This record gives sequence, C-alpha cells and structure tokens, in this order.
Amino acid sequence: MTDRLSADLPLTVEPARRRMHAGERARVLDSPGFGQVFTDHMVSLRWVKGQGWCEARLSAYAPLTLDPSATVLHYGQAIFEGLKAYHQDEGGIATFRPDANARRFGRSAARMAMPAVPEDAFVAAVDALVDIDRDWIPTGAEKSLYIRPFMIATEAFLGVRPATRYLFLVIASPAGAYFPQGVEPVSVYISEDYVRAAPGGTGEAKAAGNYAASLLAQQQAAEEGCDQVVWIDAVERRYVEEMGGMNLFFVLGSGPHAELVTPELTGTLLPGITRDSLITLAHDAGYRVTERRLSVDEWRDAATRGTLTETFACGTAAVITPVGHVQAKTGDFTIADGGTGPITLQLRQQLLDIQHGRVVDTRGWVHRVA
Ligand code: PLP
Ligand code: COI
Repeated sequence: MTDRLSADLPLTVEPARRRMHAGERARVLDSPGFGQVFTDHMVSLRWVKGQGWCEARLSAYAPLTLDPSATVLHYGQAIFEGLKAYHQDEGGIATFRPDANARRFGRSAARMAMPAVPEDAFVAAVDALVDIDRDWIPTGAEKSLYIRPFMIATEAFLGVRPATRYLFLVIASPAGAYFPQGVEPVSVYISEDYVRAAPGGTGEAKAAGNYAASLLAQQQAAEEGCDQVVWIDAVERRYVEEMGGMNLFFVLGSGPHAELVTPELTGTLLPGITRDSLITLAHDAGYRVTERRLSVDEWRDAATRGTLTETFACGTAAVITPVGHVQAKTGDFTIADGGTGPITLQLRQQLLDIQHGRVVDTRGWVHRVA
C-alpha cells in the first residue's frame, strides 16, 4: 500500500503484523504515565546527500540498526519535536498546531546543520502515524497521544562535519499527566551552578544535547527536594529563562487587571508553542501580556510583597503546571499560598478546551486528522 507525504515523496505503508492485544492496550491507556509505552507503528524517512529525502515508510515500531560510528552517537547531531493528538469531544481526532512544530523543527535543523524536512511532509508523517494508531489515543481528562518526531545523523564517519545521511522518525506514546502528582503545584530549584544555554549557542533549538546537558542540574534539583530546575541567563546570571522542558509565566496583580509576564525570546530559550498560544489566549481574555526579562530578585521581591500572585510553567508535555515553591542558594520563597492560582486554571482550561474541540477554534490551531 502506498500513500504520499508530499507531491514527490511516496509513503510505503506496511501495517504491523503483530499489534498489542486490545486488552493489554486498554490497560496501558488506563494509566499511561509519560513516554513509557509506544504505539504499534512508526514513520521513517532517509536523507542522503545529493539525493534528498527518500524511502518514506510507515511500518511496525521496531529497534533501529545503526553503525557504531554513526555521527549521532559521537557528536550528538540530533533534534526532536513534541506535540499531541487529542480525541475531540464531538468525535474525531486532532493535533494542535503541527505546522508550528514543523517550522520549529526546520529552525532546529538549520541550527544543527541538518537537512530541512519539508513542512508538509512533517505534518503528513504525523497524520499518517496518528491515523493508523488512532486506537492508541487515550480518552479522559489529562490524556492524549504524545508524538515525538526526531532526526538523527546516521552517516558512518568519525570526522567532525555535518553528516551526509540522516534518519527522520516519528514515534508516539500514550500520555497522562507529565508530573506523577498530576495538576499540583511543583517546586523548582534555580540552577546557579550550571547554565543551559549561552548567546550564540543552541538554546532556541530543540537539540538533543541541550537535554543531556541539563540532566545534572535536574538531578541536583531533585536532591534538593524539588521537581524541576529553573534556568537563568548565562551572562548576567540574573534573569529567569525557562524550566526543564517548559516556558514560564508570571502573574502580576490579580483579577481582570492582572499582567502576565513571560521571559522574552533572547535566543537562549526555546520558543514554546504553548507559550505562544497562551500569549494570544491571555491577551484575548483581556490581560496585559508582556514579554520581557524578569530577574530572580524581582521574582522573589514581588512574590514576597504579594504583588506577584501566580507563576506557572507551560509546554506540550506539561500543559500548564503551577509553580508553588522556589528554592535557590540566594533564598527560598513561596508563590502566594503555594497553591494553584485562578489565572493559571483559567488559561489551562481554555487551552484544553481548544485542544479537545470543546470550543470553536477561531485561530486555525486545531488540525483534524480524522
Ligand atoms: N522549553 C523547553 C526546554 C522545552 O523542551 C519545551 C518543550 O517542548 C518547552 C519549553 C515548551 O515548548 P512547547 O510549548 O512547544 O512544547
Ligand atoms: C515537550 O513538552 O514536548 C517536551 O519536549 C518536554 C520534555 C518532554 C522534553
């Protein structure tokens, strides 16, 4: 069976001969956790210098065969994306802003000297996987199918230069709440010993190495009893950038006159699609939204004075997660009473309502797959 990813890219469809038994799958979907079990299929495409993208295939989820000298294993030439597919309340399935993921994937690829995946082929590859594995999309609050497109350098060569061969893959995994405690405020640890990204580096790319470099600080945060690490800027070591795998928002004041502040995109933090969506939603809800630098001192002082009333993190995996308590070598503090604030809950509900098709999508964000 063949289909197409784009005008010049046929997709060979080889349905898996063995799929997970329906009863076992139902047990997984009942309590999916995050990123532990994968669906029956995957999409793969090869890129060869001089030839371009080829061998697009939708086939059984299976281990890869890589030469031990493959560039990705030595120099980390790898990027990824994350997006979700949701059951729509009135039936059908949709993903959320996959075109935005495709564009960001293109920017990450350019930064890592990797070939661009045509945006229509990226979206079509995601659609094809979601469609064939639609029985894997869990139903119920906080549940969705997490989709992970990624690209790795596969050329067997130890020289340090961009590879001449790549593999683009899309896999998917049923997901519940990202944090085991569900939608409860998280505690965060401000990393003063390590930095995530410096100007001119790879911070705004979704490059695998950014995450490898973050693990020690995340481990330190856990040792300090915190759920997540918060990164500050590499130059002045004063300004809040983002959280482990999430962007941050701060609420100044309360009620309809509240102002939302989110760190501006300086090139060292990831331009989150959830962040971008929430800027629009908050603005349309009547709040003032400001993208600017906000220092740890301002965060602490405003929280202590009570003028900063809420802080929340946002991202595809974590949706919107309130931040309750902040720990730092320079002094700990609590956001309001440490609970979940009303604006956090309001925006969270609005976002989920759009993603699940409970309200009319006026912005073209919801992409119907079936
Ligand atoms: N920041 C980092 C470092 C991330 O890994 C992510 C997750 O993708 C985000 C922010 C949030 O981005 P998005 O809203 O596009 O998922
Ligand atoms: C996402 O939200 O999609 C992420 O990539 C965050 C994390 C799982 C790495």
